[in-house]
Amino acid sequence: MYKIPANTLFMGKNLVYVPECHSTNTLASELCQLTSTSEGTIVITDSQTKGRGQRGNSWLADPQKNLTFSLIVRPTFLRPIDQFNLTIAASLALRDFLTHRIHGDIKIKWPNDILINSKKVCGILIENSLAGDMIQCSVIGIGLNVNQDSFFMESAGSMKAITGHDFNLYDELSMLLEFLERRYLQLRSGKILELKNDYLNSLYGKGELRKFIDDTGETQGVIEGIDQHGKLLIKMQAGARSYDLKEIRFIG
Ligand code: BTN
Repeated sequence: MYKIPANTLFMGKNLVYVPECHSTNTLASELCQLTSTSEGTIVITDSQTKGRGQRGNSWLADPQKNLTFSLIVRPTFLRPIDQFNLTIAASLALRDFLTHRIHGDIKIKWPNDILINSKKVCGILIENSLAGDMIQCSVIGIGLNVNQDSFFMESAGSMKAITGHDFNLYDELSMLLEFLERRYLQLRSGKILELKNDYLNSLYGKGELRKFIDDTGETQGVIEGIDQHGKLLIKMQAGARSYDLKEIRFIG
């Protein structure tokens, strides 16, 4: 794979392909430090041997069946305090793409898992490099289960598992890059309210009572939305509280 015929201005125009690597995010984080690496550069592999996920978890994907790649962007217009807005834009791009390609109930599970019919089909790992009060560069790592047939976790799925047919990885990637660029440009032009609104409208479990574990033990509350820093807002009997990713674990 050397060139992707995506109809984009900059997303995916510069492509770094490696048949195998530990993690495209790790490789992209190194490239990101070089000012010569252009915005929109994609680092893509057929096989990751040490794919990384959220909360220090590993990301497992069958070689050559899925999309595992990282995009390098330079959102210098975003303050570090607003970095969750990049998570919103990337999650929405995946939601838009999957809505375009697949019939199903497509939701974003906070912060950025993409579910179809309650099965996780895509995970996103964003890693930012800060320089003072600026985001110097960001690596948006995307693991999209495309043609995988079997999964370690019962809660996982793929585009093929849902539709029953195979997809061409290059075609899907070209399309996905267009959706990613569209949402990134929306973010760059400051349309934060629209982005937040779209995100909330797709938020999995919004308005529902859920059981979870926090620093007080097992408890329950209704998912209300997110606060201005992207923390999850939950209404409980004692009042509302916001949570960071490491502060909450859903059960059941
Ligand atoms: C999650 O835990 O849901 C996030 C998973 C992110 C996986 C992708 S695959 C491409 C990129 N490289 C990595 O090592 N991780 C991300």
